[in-house]
Amino acid sequence: MKLLLNIYIRAFIRLCKSPPHLRVVLNYGKYLIARYRRNIELSYTPPNIVIYTTKNCNLNCSFCFIGDDLNPSNAKEYELSYEDYLKIVENKFFKNSLRVGLLGGEPFIAKDIFRILEDLRKRRKVSTVVTNSTLLKGERLNRFKELAPDILGLSLYDTNREDVRRVYAEMKDKSIIWIQTIIEATSLSYVYDVLEFCIAIGCKNIRFSNYYPTYNQSMEKVIFDDNEDYKILRTNVEKKFGKILNIDWAAPVARKVSSKSCLQPINYVHLDNQGGIGACFMRPPKKEVYGSIFEDNAWNNEANIGLRTVMNEPSENCDPTCRYCENLTEDLYKI
Ligand SMILES: C[S@@+](CC[C@H](N)C(=O)[O-])C[C@H]1O[C@@H](n2cnc3c(N)ncnc32)[C@H](O)[C@@H]1O
Ligand code: SF4
Ligand code: SF4
Repeated sequence: MKLLLNIYIRAFIRLCKSPPHLRVVLNYGKYLIARYRRNIELSYTPPNIVIYTTKNCNLNCSFCFIGDDLNPSNAKEYELSYEDYLKIVENKFFKNSLRVGLLGGEPFIAKDIFRILEDLRKRRKVSTVVTNSTLLKGERLNRFKELAPDILGLSLYDTNREDVRRVYAEMKDKSIIWIQTIIEATSLSYVYDVLEFCIAIGCKNIRFSNYYPTYNQSMEKVIFDDNEDYKILRTNVEKKFGKILNIDWAAPVARKVSSKSCLQPINYVHLDNQGGIGACFMRPPKKEVYGSIFEDNAWNNEANIGLRTVMNEPSENCDPTCRYCENLTEDLYKI
């Protein structure tokens, strides 16, 4: 929570300097009312949109939840060109949004990424980018410094430590940065390793994610709510580092689902370059299922409504994709 507060306060200050359009504020107000009323059919568009600049990635992380959707044979069709981006900008989903994120795959594979970032700076949105840092070198890193997003997430893996160190050093005065990494029930002591790394490079903001078992693989890596070692670890780490670091802890997955509090189906969409919708951060864009922002009322189609309906039901029943997602019982962003 300390990490989120830190980021939101700084993002709010940024918004005060360049306030969003009135339609964005009104749209956000409608979202808050619908959230309170637990509406299923929505009369607004999501305050958060995240655009995939590509479905390709230069790394091949075995755990990646994008799974089979990563590096498709027709990837070229899905690279976000500047022209694709401008079409999205003209759509009400973009116009009404408060936050616009760029993601992938690896977002810096897209050749027009810098033109897009340059334009995004003028649009009075809270901008976010999440990257594995590996492609940000030399002239590209210099360019990125000039076009820095408001918030930057650097994903930390065993293979990219030097890249994260390098990018953090160059970007730390330009963006609000957090380092995000996955922790697994089978190797909890990795937490200390990450914290030492973050202290060494001077980064105070760390987000630990729970392992998401794509296709139910490696279930033993998921941290469940009866994991006593994890509880002890958190207590010890908070005692030792709580005053100097802002840590956002992975939410343990419930053994028995008793309540559902994920807000993604009412406040967030992933989009591909063609406007295809993915209903949450575990569901990459899939126009055939979730529709497209260029269709009428797609965000209220059967799949999107179905997801909200199940999320509102008090029963244990939940969509299989949601069952082992850490966001199901503790919404990650909370706003
Ligand atoms: C899918 S990546 C896309 C952006 C970029 N390629 C990167 O790695 O930062 C976005 C985030 O998803 C996280 N992620 C991928 N697979 C995951 C999994 N199975 N469980 C939890 N987080 C995962 C990554 O660690 C990364 O921080
Ligand atoms: S770098 Fe990111 S997108 Fe690429 S495989 Fe790893 S987690 Fe997936
Ligand atoms: S619980 Fe997870 S998988 Fe389900 S809608 Fe929320 S973010 Fe998506």
